[in-house]
Amino acid sequence: MQAARCSVIPMPVEYISGDGFCAFKGVPAAESADFPAEVAVFNEQMAVLYGRNSSADSKNPPIRCVKDGPAAPEAYRLRITSNQVEVGATTAAGIYHGLQTLRQLLISGYEDDSPGVGGRFVITNAEINDAPRFAWRGFMLDCSRHFYQCASIKKIIDALSLHHINVFHWHLTDDQGWRLPVPEYPNLVETGSRRRNSLKKREVWSGGSYTEADIREIVAFAAARHITVVPEVDLPGHTGAALTAYPELGCTGGPYHVEDRHGIFDEILCAGNDAIFPFVEAVFKTLVRLFPGEYVHIGGDEAPKTRWEESPQCRKRLADLGLSDMNQLQVYLTRRFAGMLAELGKTAVGWDEVLEGDTPESPLPEGLVVMSWRGVEGGLEAVSKGRPVVMTPSTEGCYLVLPGMTAEQEKLVLGGQANLWSEMIPADRFAEYMIFPRIAAKAEALWTPRALKDYRSFCERLDTHRHRLDMLDILQYRGI
Ligand code: ACM
Repeated sequence: MQAARCSVIPMPVEYISGDGFCAFKGVPAAESADFPAEVAVFNEQMAVLYGRNSSADSKNPPIRCVKDGPAAPEAYRLRITSNQVEVGATTAAGIYHGLQTLRQLLISGYEDDSPGVGGRFVITNAEINDAPRFAWRGFMLDCSRHFYQCASIKKIIDALSLHHINVFHWHLTDDQGWRLPVPEYPNLVETGSRRRNSLKKREVWSGGSYTEADIREIVAFAAARHITVVPEVDLPGHTGAALTAYPELGCTGGPYHVEDRHGIFDEILCAGNDAIFPFVEAVFKTLVRLFPGEYVHIGGDEAPKTRWEESPQCRKRLADLGLSDMNQLQVYLTRRFAGMLAELGKTAVGWDEVLEGDTPESPLPEGLVVMSWRGVEGGLEAVSKGRPVVMTPSTEGCYLVLPGMTAEQEKLVLGGQANLWSEMIPADRFAEYMIFPRIAAKAEALWTPRALKDYRSFCERLDTHRHRLDMLDILQYRGI
């Protein structure tokens, strides 16, 4: 009954509404000696929407953030009374999530009808106690099939953080464009970041790449919002752009071109060619320099073995390893790549195809995280082998489902993710339209305890939430 009055998405673990309300004139601003960085981001978020007259009324209830609250990572409590608002947490991430819940309430509590004094904000007194169900609450953006500017990515990241999403998986390379500058391999962006539109009679090229400064800016912007960036360099398939830049890394030597079609292509890194290892190492060293997070995604999906079967070098490599199946050769690459990353202090993540060819003669490395995308089967297989997984089944609208797992196996589910592939999303505003508000449902699936899931309540809250997204100038899907 009380919970139904909560308009927040994702639904908090506990929402107890109180009597009365808390009102602000001018723009509410938070303060904290313990968490100045989180408070600064929140105050800036409010200022961007409502202006900077935060000291307009010294009688405004203070918004305090204190290091005192639930011990679980990312957990927070939020107490709203007529005299003050207090966010309590033991971690900075918890404080940030508490402030985002407050940002939601303030945006939907804004009343712009007070003559002479500008707007005022009125929010219902309440106590919220909250913590996430899963540690990995991800969103993936494909910036290869279409290139998005940093400003657009930052806008999306900021809106994701309103929903407590905490992983931004950045798909940076594919057949249609390589976006990551690697100093030792300058042609990757010189040549591999631009593609020609073959449907146009005139020469029309499109693409782009990020500079190191761009990447650092995105990583810092996300970190300030307690979002970890997981970069993906897709290997050994989906490497058409890299092969265009360095044809000697393929089985045939080319020529290759940066694709402007959709699909799965035969041209992949040559598993029999030793030159791919220094190449991959240089790429990984760049990633390690630029991305401080624990995980690096090495792709592994949709790598046809056509060229490997035809290649004497690949057949020789297979025979030298005493293996019989080209899928085992992909596992060999995965093992080497994950091993390189482990030496650099990182954990590899791969799409569920990495499980194919995982055999005693050619085993997958320990600790590799499997991202289950073709369904839930990859995730089930991975946990049955004791591997951590992130669930992002395309067959389930990317909703998290956990059929057939034991309680022990469920502990291996780090969380889930929604993915936006951009073959048909040529502009940032369309990307927003595809992400929002669907990410709100994903966020609720990943944050809110299963027992509290309530579709009707979600739909009611979504009505309010849509207004918040409008206020953030997010283009959103509104149904047909
Ligand atoms: C994928 O959709 N190819 C991971």
